[in-house]
Amino acid sequence: MENSEKITVPELMKLKGKRKIVALTAYDYLFARIVDNAGVDFILVGDSVGTTYQGLSSTIPVKMEEMLYHTRIVKRGVSRALVVGDMPFMSYQASMDDAIFNAGLFLKEGAGAVKLEGGVAVSLIVEKMVLSGIPVMGHIGLTPQSVNLFGGYKIQGRNESSVKRIINDAKALVEAGVFSIVLEGMPEEVAREITETISVPTIGIGAGGYCDGQILVITDLLGLDPTFTPKFVKKYKDLYAEVKEVVTEYISDVTSGNFPEESNVFHIKKGG
Ligand code: KIV
Repeated sequence: MENSEKITVPELMKLKGKRKIVALTAYDYLFARIVDNAGVDFILVGDSVGTTYQGLSSTIPVKMEEMLYHTRIVKRGVSRALVVGDMPFMSYQASMDDAIFNAGLFLKEGAGAVKLEGGVAVSLIVEKMVLSGIPVMGHIGLTPQSVNLFGGYKIQGRNESSVKRIINDAKALVEAGVFSIVLEGMPEEVAREITETISVPTIGIGAGGYCDGQILVITDLLGLDPTFTPKFVKKYKDLYAEVKEVVTEYISDVTSGNFPEESNVFHIKKGG
């Protein structure tokens, strides 16, 4: 695939077995433009905006109106990647009508697809969305919106019954018509079995190297939060330290009179 081609849902599906799919989250125009120009296949406007940008301790309080706002401003920075809007907690669980309506709002903001968490429990909702023309990405394993059920952010699929549940969830989602599934926080062996048995691409996060693609949260990859360094993240930079250093230098320049310099200053035109 040429780097300039727009990525659509069918294009993404065709990548399974051909090459690895690469994805990142983004929450605003600024980062979406960088990530898109670098060439990722899809950008997830994740409800992780709650923990990364809003200072929340979970994604549970994130609201529909906030997700729509972030989807809108991400979309402005993207010309190639598929934009996937993440449905927040209680925007799709309470009623079928709400679920379809809310999913449709993401598409009206320019998303090409939505993502929601859950397997068997949401399969009827997924089916109805797909029948309504809304492409859906599934998300199973350590689903952060179920943190209260799990009793914390715990790796799933560590015992036989949990493995069975995850595999059944994957199969139910495929039958319901998802075009891809995020596999989060599970043993590599489980993610491998799912990847090798289902027809749609799997996108891993904390699920090992056998998935059809990988996704990371942009702030984790860039090292923007020094308090969060999970095992599954590869931290490519320590941007927290680098940005802090720049700001410290700026403070010093302003207080010492080194900024602004002559080149930063406007003057009245002589004879003007
Ligand atoms: O909200 C998010 O960023 C996600 C990814 C971790 C897959 O759901």
